[in-house]
Amino acid sequence: MKRVLEPEVMDDPEQVLAYAQADFEEENQGFVDQFFTLYPDLENPHIVDLGCGPGDIPLRVVRRHPSCRVTGIDASQPMITYAEQAVQKAGFHDRVQFVCQRFQDVTLSPPADAMMSNSLVHHVPNPLRFWYSLKTLLKPGSPILVMDLLRPESPEAAQAIVDEQAADEPERLRQDFFHSLMAAFTEDEVAAQLAELNFSRCFVDVQDDRHWIVYGHVY
Ligand SMILES: C[S@@+](CC[C@H](N)C(=O)[O-])C[C@H]1O[C@@H](n2cnc3c(N)ncnc32)[C@H](O)[C@@H]1O
Repeated sequence: MKRVLEPEVMDDPEQVLAYAQADFEEENQGFVDQFFTLYPDLENPHIVDLGCGPGDIPLRVVRRHPSCRVTGIDASQPMITYAEQAVQKAGFHDRVQFVCQRFQDVTLSPPADAMMSNSLVHHVPNPLRFWYSLKTLLKPGSPILVMDLLRPESPEAAQAIVDEQAADEPERLRQDFFHSLMAAFTEDEVAAQLAELNFSRCFVDVQDDRHWIVYGHVY
């Protein structure tokens, strides 16, 4: 099945509410734990979360690491508003900041020490632009962890995943999940993207039946 693009930015209020209220605890905490298992020795790092959405992952990061700072970047103003409120409420506003901008337009000075990104890449029309941005936003040699969905073989297979994994979720969340699966990349496509940009110290792996990850260091 060919990739079917979905809208890049999630800024419809109903969509944002459905996403922000969904329970991603297992996936998001697993992602954060995996980052710090891969990279246990980061000292006072400035970590960037690309496509941070409603801020759940940045909050889990500062709770997990005592001295890191996080910059969450998302092009959706409703997502950023939600994220800022969540961080304020949790009392971490001194260690987490947000930037409401497309990552393609962001510059960081100085560049960050590490980068994580969950479920952004399938939104991006040109994935090479995503990988290229990592080189500009990070210090050479910085560690990354990127996770996203695997594209199923057919729309029917995508629908079966939605029915199995999100049976009781609101209809808007189920529709978005289906479109995200249709817009996602295969493991081979991600490997080709990394090769094209010479990410020779990064590796793609299939995490489970629905996700790929890329980890390693960006030069
Ligand atoms: C599926 S959500 C993932 C949110 C969060 N990473 C999580 O795992 O909970 C994808 C997010 O990427 C954002 N996004 C899409 N394209 C973007 C871009 N070019 N620059 C910045 N953010 C973008 C969307 O607005 C949305 O909030």
